[in-house]
Amino acid sequence: MTANILVIGSGGREHALAWALSRSPGVEAVWVAPGNGGMVSPATGGSAAIAVVPVAADDGTGIVGFCRDKAVTLVVIGPEAPLAAGLADELREQGLTVFGPGADGAQLEASKAWAKQLMTQAGVPTAPSWVVTSRTEGLDLLHRLGRPPVVKADGLAAGKGVTVASTMAEAEAAVDRAFAGAFGRAGEQLVLEERLEGPEVSVLALCDGRDLVLLPPAQDHKRIGEGDTGPNTGGMGAYAPVPFLDQQALEHMRSTVFLPVLAAIRDRGIDYRGVIYAGMMLTATGPKVIEFNCRFGDPECQCVLPLLDGNLAAVLQACALGQLAEAPALSTRKSAACACVVAAAEGYPGPVRRGDPITDTGNASSEGMVFYAGVKRGETGQIQTAGGRVLASVGLGDDFDQAFDQAYNRLGRIDYAGKTVRSDIGHQVRRR
Ligand code: AMP
Ligand code: GLY
Repeated sequence: MTANILVIGSGGREHALAWALSRSPGVEAVWVAPGNGGMVSPATGGSAAIAVVPVAADDGTGIVGFCRDKAVTLVVIGPEAPLAAGLADELREQGLTVFGPGADGAQLEASKAWAKQLMTQAGVPTAPSWVVTSRTEGLDLLHRLGRPPVVKADGLAAGKGVTVASTMAEAEAAVDRAFAGAFGRAGEQLVLEERLEGPEVSVLALCDGRDLVLLPPAQDHKRIGEGDTGPNTGGMGAYAPVPFLDQQALEHMRSTVFLPVLAAIRDRGIDYRGVIYAGMMLTATGPKVIEFNCRFGDPECQCVLPLLDGNLAAVLQACALGQLAEAPALSTRKSAACACVVAAAEGYPGPVRRGDPITDTGNASSEGMVFYAGVKRGETGQIQTAGGRVLASVGLGDDFDQAFDQAYNRLGRIDYAGKTVRSDIGHQVRRR
């Protein structure tokens, strides 16, 4: 296989994808559109060069033009917004090979009501829920329920559309806010859902429309504060694999969650070629799905891809072509642990300070990986902060202590004003 690959997106997830794809045998070049100033790297003995392309993720015509110009053989779409907007459909219509579902399949993430209906049809374990389309209907339902549910905007709300209410007043306020327009069209209908309790895990599958392969499970840390407190973020760190989910538990999820959902998707005439990401809560009565996403998780992707052995590019291409059964196996490194710690900008997840120069005295090749997200190059060429989550430091070891030591040591060599890091990522699996 000779591959020229274009990754769409600009975050840490896309940097990790570009990194892993550039190391796949047979890959000649990897571009990222629009990417960010921290992603560029030259070709080395074992990996292809990574370069960025100034084409926006919503510029379908520009992307098609670039792909023709550079003879791109595979496009991998990272974020949910272009998937939900139909970018994969547009590129496929132009004859390109694309990893990522079309707008029909992306509803799995872009409409929680649609996903819930699919789960019910497929008999997938999930919390009981109700859909409401007006404030009055929402408040009536709250009074009938008599206890506070989780209130979710139906559509894409950049991770801000969910309120896990502890009191009825909080639930009412969330319903009020949504119908007052806080989430725009994404909040025109709401899903009210019973609250579940238990640890959360992210389980991702690569899918070619018929078959799927599960990746090592990960655990994400969504809250900004130490001890999992404070507001929700896009994710402040993650680790993989999850030691308390063994092969048998994963096989169980494959047969009770992934295969039935894929069958229900096919029943609707949808040819789903991309990631199915299940956010699962391990409750006292078994694992239940709390959400599906139609893409790799960020930051889960940064600590799942380094665990894989094998040719990721060939496997994603096989998914894109509907030929996963013929692809080379993607195995997981034995007894390896991967740790990902995010460094955010001051103020995150609210408005953040930007433009602070980033200094780095570490050595990327011997000290784990750094995947850049909210950064750009200043006029002098120096990397500076330009977003909420700035970068992720990723360590790989024989156990989690080694992996986290590496990730935190590397992060200690990187500095910028307002650097915001949780020191307790992976507390569940670290011994020191
Ligand atoms: P989402 O935006 O769907 O990822 O939801 C954000 C977070 O809300 C999840 O990661 C969970 O921590 C929490 N959440 C969502 N649904 C439920 C539920 N039914 N019970 C408890 N927590 C939930
Ligand atoms: N880290 C959570 C997500 O990507 O949705």
